[in-house]
Amino acid sequence: MILQEYMNTCRKRVDEQLKQVLPESSIISLKLAEAMTYSVFNGGKRVRPLLVYAANKTLGGQSHYADPVACAVELVHAYSLVHDDLPAMDDDDLRRGKPTCHKAFNEATAILAGDALQTLAFEALSDPYHFPDALLSDSSRLALLRELSVASGHSGMCGGQSMDLNSVGQALNQQQLQLMHNHKTGALIRASVIMGALSTGHVSDQQLEALTTYANAIGLAFQVQDDILDVTADTETLGKQQGADDALHKPTYVSLMGLEEAKQFAENLCQEAVSALSLFDDQATPLRQLADYIVHRSH
Ligand code: IPE
Ligand code: IPE
Ligand code: MG
Ligand code: MG
Ligand code: MG
Repeated sequence: MILQEYMNTCRKRVDEQLKQVLPESSIISLKLAEAMTYSVFNGGKRVRPLLVYAANKTLGGQSHYADPVACAVELVHAYSLVHDDLPAMDDDDLRRGKPTCHKAFNEATAILAGDALQTLAFEALSDPYHFPDALLSDSSRLALLRELSVASGHSGMCGGQSMDLNSVGQALNQQQLQLMHNHKTGALIRASVIMGALSTGHVSDQQLEALTTYANAIGLAFQVQDDILDVTADTETLGKQQGADDALHKPTYVSLMGLEEAKQFAENLCQEAVSALSLFDDQATPLRQLADYIVHRSH
């Protein structure tokens, strides 16, 4: 299977669904609706939705059951980036090659757009009328909501982001850095894989364990590669300011172990992830290929 074709199909699919979910206009605040749409449709790679669809496929699931999940994880991700770029956090001007949300609109609107994207994720997941073809049982919906809540909050992404901000100017050891990356980035990536599996309505404990091992490895690898690209890629390719981590004195895998060792570390994580999928058949091909994509992507 050619990964590029699979990615194009899934990206098109999730974009169509996201268009349905996002507010087209608003009599309450057009500016807020515009800021939300701007922050979702500005060229993201859609890695988390891709993982949702690929995990669903691995278990022989039907894609339309995964649609609300794919939208929900991308909406949480979009919110996290809007807030991550704010002056109080990473203070970035460029995201996906365009002005960040607070630059294109203003800070208050960006805060609210992030808030509203986050709550929209939970609305999309819980409201059966948004996705009439996704005939998820109430208990499946509850399990999905719980997974996303835990992954996004204080014991997941927000916890990791707080650790990131508290670590500025400090040299973390590998254990601390791994803890930070596993939370700020790994948690939502892990949730994407697990929720993709849950969307099938049938996943055994053994399958869940294998997928969790896979997801933990690629979740960490994703942020290691993000750290690497901050050093090796150029601003135009990245779509965000190159060298931003160093400028902000952020501890990263590159600052901890150097560029070559960080690259090797990411490769090892990729292999670990692929090995964890040995119990699955060819349906897991996209998931296997996505591990490779995550550590070899150029932006
Ligand atoms: C960037 O995520 C932020 C991190 C968690 C490292 P992505 O690299 O997935 O960003 P987009 O969505 O493709 O722009
Ligand atoms: C962001 O990590 C992680 C989240 C948004 C949760 P980074 O701060 O490294 O992401 P970029 O490099 O700005 O995309
Ligand atoms: Mg950050
Ligand atoms: Mg950032
Ligand atoms: Mg980064």
